[in-house]
Amino acid sequence: MSEIESPQKGAETAQPRQTTTGESDEQLRAEWTDYDFDGEAKLAVEDLDVHYGDEHALKGVSMDIPERSVTALIGPSGCGKSTYLRCLNRMNDRINSARVDGSVQLDENELYQEGVDLVELRKRVGMVFQSPNPFPKSIRENISYGPRKHGTIDTGLLARLFGRSDEESEERLVERSLRQAALWDEVKDRLDDNALGLSGGQQQRLCIARALATDPEVLLMDEPASALDPIATSKIEELIHELSREYTVVIVTHNMQQAERISDQTAVFLTGGRLAEYGRTEQIFADPQSQRVDDYISGKFG
Ligand SMILES: Nc1ncnc2c1ncn2[C@@H]1O[C@H](COP(=O)(O)OP(=O)(O)OP(=O)(O)O)[C@@H](O)[C@H]1O
Ligand SMILES: [Mg+2]
Repeated sequence: MSEIESPQKGAETAQPRQTTTGESDEQLRAEWTDYDFDGEAKLAVEDLDVHYGDEHALKGVSMDIPERSVTALIGPSGCGKSTYLRCLNRMNDRINSARVDGSVQLDENELYQEGVDLVELRKRVGMVFQSPNPFPKSIRENISYGPRKHGTIDTGLLARLFGRSDEESEERLVERSLRQAALWDEVKDRLDDNALGLSGGQQQRLCIARALATDPEVLLMDEPASALDPIATSKIEELIHELSREYTVVIVTHNMQQAERISDQTAVFLTGGRLAEYGRTEQIFADPQSQRVDDYISGKFG
């Protein structure tokens, strides 16, 4: 934590120098990441450190994420946004070289302890990636795959033999999820077509629908619109806004205007894997407290 210091007399007047990346070497202050909000924290992250082998990718990050809202994560490439996002559903467990220290709580339950059911966790905390990755199966099967795996719907041979098949609930679930992801009208007549035949924007909404089908509470999105055209992007943005009424959405974006448009609060990470500033989105963009954050959002580096 050596880089984060408490306010000192005269610190305001010290002129930060430029580093080689174009960022200044201004020291960070713990109070720049203090964010008071009304309501409950869905996720509470405390002193999170991530190493990949010898590389220290995330350093001492603490931030609470309010429920039913949109939290944007921004910052220059390589600053640890995806790393942070993956910690929220223990996706970094899949990376051999990754070591995670610190605490992440979901509804006050520690995720980093023995005995946590990772399948159940990833059902509660769903994820949508940068490039759409539908399964090479029908649109319908893309949606029903998760709920089948989790045993929420059973349309298997035995269920059918004994007349207990959940085909109707499957149909309802497929329709509900596709409607939630604002895709239903475009695909309702081709549910049995291969999902890979959809456009990029449609595939991404299908992936969102697939994530919603298992009834998650939190939706993590890593640059979900970066590969899409402006129209598809605005559909995804509207959708995120709608979803935040019911879900806790955490989204990484490189698009500053997008963060400003869709999020309630914004976290700015800086090179070196530190959280520099976290607060209400209007405040971060209109009146950032850190010079480095100001430089970043006004496009001076990154
Ligand atoms: N699987 C991995 N193995 C080794 N190092 C990794 C791995 N994933 C990320 N890193 C390193 O950790 C640091 C943070 O990476 P991360 O992908 O979290 O950044 P990011 O902010 O998401 O960047 P971008 O905006 O380019 O997606 C980088 O230095 C990166 O090289
Ligand atoms: Mg990333």
